[in-house]
Amino acid sequence: MDMLGLYPTFYVPQIGSAWVMGIIGVIHVVASHTSVGAALLFAILETVAYKQNRPQILDFIKRYGMFLLVFSYIIGSITGPGIWYAITVASPRGVGGLIHNFVWVWAAEWVYFTVEVIGVYALVYLLGKIDPRSHLKLTWSFALASWATMLLIVGILSFMMWPGSEAWYTTGSTNDAFYNLNFFAHLGIRTGSMLVMATVVGLLVLSRQADPDLRQRVARILAPIGLAGGFLSVLMFMWYLQTLPHNAQLMLTVNLIPVYMKGMIAVFAATTVYLIWAWVKPLHIRTWVAVPLFLFIAVYGVWPEERIRESMRKPFVVGQYVYSNQIIARDVPGKGITAEVDRVGEHGLLKLNPFVPERLRTITPENRLEAGQLLAKMACANCHALEKGAPLRSLPDKFGGSADEDLIAAFIRGPLANGTIAYMPRLVLPEHEIEALAAFIAHQNKPQLATVAVKTTPPKE
Ligand code: HEC
Repeated sequence: MDMLGLYPTFYVPQIGSAWVMGIIGVIHVVASHTSVGAALLFAILETVAYKQNRPQILDFIKRYGMFLLVFSYIIGSITGPGIWYAITVASPRGVGGLIHNFVWVWAAEWVYFTVEVIGVYALVYLLGKIDPRSHLKLTWSFALASWATMLLIVGILSFMMWPGSEAWYTTGSTNDAFYNLNFFAHLGIRTGSMLVMATVVGLLVLSRQADPDLRQRVARILAPIGLAGGFLSVLMFMWYLQTLPHNAQLMLTVNLIPVYMKGMIAVFAATTVYLIWAWVKPLHIRTWVAVPLFLFIAVYGVWPEERIRESMRKPFVVGQYVYSNQIIARDVPGKGITAEVDRVGEHGLLKLNPFVPERLRTITPENRLEAGQLLAKMACANCHALEKGAPLRSLPDKFGGSADEDLIAAFIRGPLANGTIAYMPRLVLPEHEIEALAAFIAHQNKPQLATVAVKTTPPKE
């Protein structure tokens, strides 16, 4: 029997691989958006500095540039590859799908990224050492290269949501994938929010400067840019909502808006008030306000934004054809990909995944719980933690703490197999696998056994 091209399953207790990716991703977004936004601010500030002949603005650029070099470039450059490691083990087929679409887009992104990193060093260390016109050209090239890295990544990220039309499924073309329905709105959100973040950090650096004239001038350039960025971001977010697939709309209204909306509105309000304040009273900006505000934006703005984008995509991880549990949901003739759900139903995951240990390929009374656990890892753990009370949508809790195997099996046989739940993948399993999976979940919910881990049967070989 031909196996499916599945990979080993990576599972982190309690939080799943999803949150590992989420945490690294949020740190990366905070660092990278601040850097890209700051690159544009530098270009604008430097243009003003030369036009109005105000060399002290250049000193500010140098300080801010140095601050970014130490913090956000290092953090950004570590977490960027970190994302690659995390997504490769969390969702190998998702990454594979993206690479098969975007390999040259990524190659281009790395070229721009190299320009960006060399650019920031050149910008900081050559300031005042080469003629101003050349330096200004360098700063604008750096700014455009930085923004280009964002633009290219956004095309890839928004394809993960969906291509938005049937065209890509038949052509498989990179253009159809890249210029997907939500690309421009998504780019607008990120462009606006990067200006907000870079402005807040810029004001933080500014709050450490003594020269009142410099503070006034720079704050009055930065604050309106930050405000405009915030409004752009909100407008684009509203447009973005119109470009989402049905499953995402549902997830958003039922599960996400009720949880995150208040925090995001609070972030917008607090940032707007702060930026207006900085504009009107530039001498009153303080480090002890700027630092907590930045953390507030990161925790209540960026984390929900990334979490929402990840959650809304469910049950898919990429392009509405790869489910989060790595099973292919539909045919994609343009890429020669065929749906797998029904094959899984016929032969079972234990038989079709090449990485299942031999001793678990056939379910026996002895290995039943262990096989059930492996099935849960392969089929559900990308979205659900397996432990009771775990923060990532605990699977035992989602069954209301029930230890009734029949009830759990009925859910798998019914709504899951029929694909009637918009945010969960359609999953068809043979009867013996359904029973093992149900037995494992029920076992997690049995009070006397709840803390006992499933025993691993030693290999028979
Ligand atoms: C693609 C991600 C994903 C996968 C894979 C997945 N689920 Fe879910 N599941 C969800 C989401 C999202 C929710 C609703 C979230 C919430 O309530 O916070 C959910 C909710 C549930 C619920 C609660 C009932 C409901 O309809 O809200 C149960 C029960 C459940 N899942 C069981 C399973 C089982 C069993 C598996 C594996 C066979 C599985 N899920 C695989 C995403 C997934």
